Amino acid sequence: MSISYKKTHIGEHPLKADSLMMGYGYDPQLSEGSIKCPNFQTSTFVFKSAEQGKDFFNLVSGRRQLKDGEQAGLVYSRFNNPTLEIAENRIAIWDQAEDCIVTGSGMSAISTTLFTFSRPGDVVVYSEPIYGGTDTLVNVVLKQMNIQSVGYLSSEGSLGLKQALDKAKALGSISVVMLETPDNPTNNLIDIAECKKIIDDATIDQASKPVLAIDNTMMGPVWQQPLAHGADLCIYSLTKYVGGHSDLIGGSCSGSKALVSRIRKVRNSIGTTMDSNTAWLILRSLETLKIRMQAAADGAKKVVGYLQSHDKVSRIDFPGLLKKGDAQYDIYQKQCTGAGSTFSFEVDGGEEGAFAVLNKLKLVKLAVSLGGTESLAQHPAAMTHSGVPKDRRAVIGITEGLIRISVGIEDAEDIIADLSQALA
Ligand SMILES: Cc1ncc(COP(=O)(O)O)c(C=O)c1O
Repeated sequence: MSISYKKTHIGEHPLKADSLMMGYGYDPQLSEGSIKCPNFQTSTFVFKSAEQGKDFFNLVSGRRQLKDGEQAGLVYSRFNNPTLEIAENRIAIWDQAEDCIVTGSGMSAISTTLFTFSRPGDVVVYSEPIYGGTDTLVNVVLKQMNIQSVGYLSSEGSLGLKQALDKAKALGSISVVMLETPDNPTNNLIDIAECKKIIDDATIDQASKPVLAIDNTMMGPVWQQPLAHGADLCIYSLTKYVGGHSDLIGGSCSGSKALVSRIRKVRNSIGTTMDSNTAWLILRSLETLKIRMQAAADGAKKVVGYLQSHDKVSRIDFPGLLKKGDAQYDIYQKQCTGAGSTFSFEVDGGEEGAFAVLNKLKLVKLAVSLGGTESLAQHPAAMTHSGVPKDRRAVIGITEGLIRISVGIEDAEDIIADLSQALA
């Protein structure tokens, strides 16, 4: 199947990403006129001739490069599949990227990326707090392969990154700088453009320049576009906002053709490719991504407004509350177009107080994960961040009374009513 339906303009008028989600990359005439891209649920593809099979293998393995305007032929669904390719094209549009790969989970996007660029003796620099799976990957799995890691607190800003780079340089060659902004669950923002500059300044020679990868899961492409701020790679757990319905596990990584083609080669080799059914669900989800994220953000704003006036709530970590004069406010203004809808708030009474609230919720579900249509709440210290040592949790601000909520698209007044009865 060729992907010929790639119009991004009507005449001179450029189409927005949300419009392109309905059709980009898919030609209905190649699929019996079907308005929707089918789920090409197939493991393998039939070649017209042995010569064609040989040529397609040469292309997919990189032994031959694509000519201008040429599409790689379909070989085997671990390497390529039309449903996956169209999902990749559309995520790349949101990320303003040349290319994208989709993977079986957010963690497989992160691990495939780190495996692509890191060799034994290298060092990965990362921001803390970072998603627990990423923390385990860099501090346990990569260490077993003699790849070291140096973390720094995202709240320490540029100075923290500079010190981490110095420390890492003393250990080996820095392969990847892996950052998560905003961090989770405290919503600290990292200035991506500033980080890029610091990395460039600290790089002795171009050949050993580390790749700057941003986990953009929390904001999604609607509220933050890391590549536009100088990041090399933008990674998602598509499981969250992009999938958006809490019914799939997936990941992606977008960036330049040169970098993504290297990651694709590793993905195709180690088999972290997404399955076609998940890719089909992602296509469905991308069509409503903007309105879902907007509705959830509007709801979150109202919920935050309510919590601000509650006498049992002592702290709310929500970027939308940042004030002029705060360095975080400047990053927010420069880098984000919205505050998202996942945030944390602290209630009186430590763990007991937080558990009492969580156990009383009726509409909001008590579950980890985020970014779905339904509101979810959880206790970071006992759940998502229970693996972080207690003293480290205290430094990061993950207190015993902290609750994280991912506001969904239910009516905000109903979410407020639920929180109100639970807090009472
Ligand atoms: C910020 C972030 N990155 C990565 C992941 C991992 O994604 P997945 O569960 O899809 O592997 C998660 C999962 O919660 C996450 O929250």
